[in-house]
Amino acid sequence: MSLRTVLAADLNPIQTNGWLTGSIAPRPIAFASTVNAAGVRNLSPFSFFNAFGSNPPMLAFAPNRRGRDGTTKHTYQNVVATHEFVIATVSHAMVQQMNVASAEYPDGVDEFTKSGFTPLPASFVKAALVAEAPVQMECRLHQVVELGTGPGSGLMLIGEILCFHANEEMLTHDLPDPRKLDHVARNGGAFYTRAFGDSLFEIAKPAGMPLGYDRLPEVLKHSRILSGNDLGRLANTAELPDLATMPRKTGDPEGAQDLEEAIALAVRSENMAEAWRLIGQRLRC
Ligand SMILES: Cc1cc2nc3c(=O)[nH]c(=O)nc-3n(C[C@H](O)[C@H](O)[C@H](O)COP(=O)(O)O)c2cc1C
Repeated sequence: MSLRTVLAADLNPIQTNGWLTGSIAPRPIAFASTVNAAGVRNLSPFSFFNAFGSNPPMLAFAPNRRGRDGTTKHTYQNVVATHEFVIATVSHAMVQQMNVASAEYPDGVDEFTKSGFTPLPASFVKAALVAEAPVQMECRLHQVVELGTGPGSGLMLIGEILCFHANEEMLTHDLPDPRKLDHVARNGGAFYTRAFGDSLFEIAKPAGMPLGYDRLPEVLKHSRILSGNDLGRLANTAELPDLATMPRKTGDPEGAQDLEEAIALAVRSENMAEAWRLIGQRLRC
């Protein structure tokens, strides 16, 4: 592997943005609904966004200073004026209209009207809910964190979540279901990711204290067949089985390479008991 190192101090703001948004990706999208002091609605997407605490429930997003002239965006101005906002999540069915909402409309233009989304009254704040969104959160401004003063500098808005709203169809056992949301996320450049179908996968959380990579049999770590993910899955075993007593079965492969291929197959199909049994054979050949 040849490693490219780039000093942040050597990059101009456009290059920095390219490295940031290309490296920290995919990013969830906050579709921020706000109103200005006169009550005119605003709706814009922001992918510098995440959740940061659950007690109290906190999220943050960053409508930053414009890269070209350092001026602030309407969303930022509205939140600073009203201290409240709604964050809606964005599904694949919404992505083209969301893109229309991201244009730099003049102050006072209702971006619900421009993008064609349906405003609904919220429960606690003046900003509107987005009827089409799978999940949304009404928020009260907690803190503004200024991360610089020049063009492209960060203006992070931290909000306390007052309530969640979800389309009933998006829920399973009373929680948002990743298989139903069809969320989109932002990557570098003009790329997006869709979290749906085959792109979703599950990993069992480590149960208690996992075995760890360091305790895997050395021979497995030097395998040219087992991948980092295979070894990681094996390292996520609760107890190291007694490999010396693993039974041999008729039809088991004989050679080291064939055994490692069989181990990889068992791991990738989540048949961990079979994987460890075959590892026992591998250690004996
Ligand atoms: C998917 C997506 C994500 C974006 N993320 C951000 C972001 O995190 N921060 C930002 O300042 N602008 C971001 N933008 C650009 C803003 O949406 C754009 O500047 C918008 O016009 C701001 O509108 P406003 O002035 O009405 O607040 C993003 C645009 C898109 C399409």
